[in-house]
Amino acid sequence: MDDTPTIEASISTRVLTPADAEAYRSVRLRALQERPPAFGSLPETEPNLTETAVRLAESKDRCFFGAFQVKQLIGIIRLSRYEATNEKHRAYLAGLYVLPGFRRRACGRALVSQALHRATMTSGVRRVNLTVVTQQKNAIRLYQSFGFRIYGTEQETFIKDGKYYDEHLMTLELKADP
Ligand SMILES: CC(C)(COP(=O)(O)OP(=O)(O)OC[C@H]1O[C@@H](n2cnc3c(N)ncnc32)[C@H](O)[C@@H]1OP(=O)(O)O)[C@@H](O)C(=O)NCCC(=O)NCCS
Repeated sequence: MDDTPTIEASISTRVLTPADAEAYRSVRLRALQERPPAFGSLPETEPNLTETAVRLAESKDRCFFGAFQVKQLIGIIRLSRYEATNEKHRAYLAGLYVLPGFRRRACGRALVSQALHRATMTSGVRRVNLTVVTQQKNAIRLYQSFGFRIYGTEQETFIKDGKYYDEHLMTLELKADP
């Protein structure tokens, strides 16, 4: 029997738009308060609502995805392509977060899957990178299940409440969609 968790029927994923700015910002600020920290970004430097809406406008090099339970935004992820002409073969995943009450329902997997599908379908992108705090074992396991491998560990990338945190650097070589 296949015991792979499937996303619940009431949960869906889609590309976020400027109309999602308020919901996105609220989930993002919750993510930045996670303990132990999942992100080094500071809440006080997070873009305001207007700037968030501008960022959510899809560009050819950056896209935000959201997971929804009916109409409630419960998970987020961002896929960005490197900008320099000699680095555009790479993209990076960032900001994966699922609200605590909605975890273990395959939302994280659905978000990563959707972002990787987009990367695979983007002509010229052949590799996706990310960084993950070494304590976030569940996220690391999730990324590894997609084939990401750890290729290095950066020491003391940020400090929070007097404690230093390290981050793994992970990479995935994309296979062209059949
Ligand atoms: C990591 C995170 C996004 C996973 O979201 P989720 O919706 O609970 O994940 P899923 O239900 O899709 O699980 C996917 C896989 O993740 C791993 N995983 C997630 N939670 C886990 C747990 N509590 N224990 C063990 N493995 C876990 C497993 O490999 C799981 O696959 P499986 O169900 O086949 O075992 C969520 O726990 C989270 O938001 N964590 C805090 C933020 C964070 O660490 N973000 C990453 C920043 S780089």
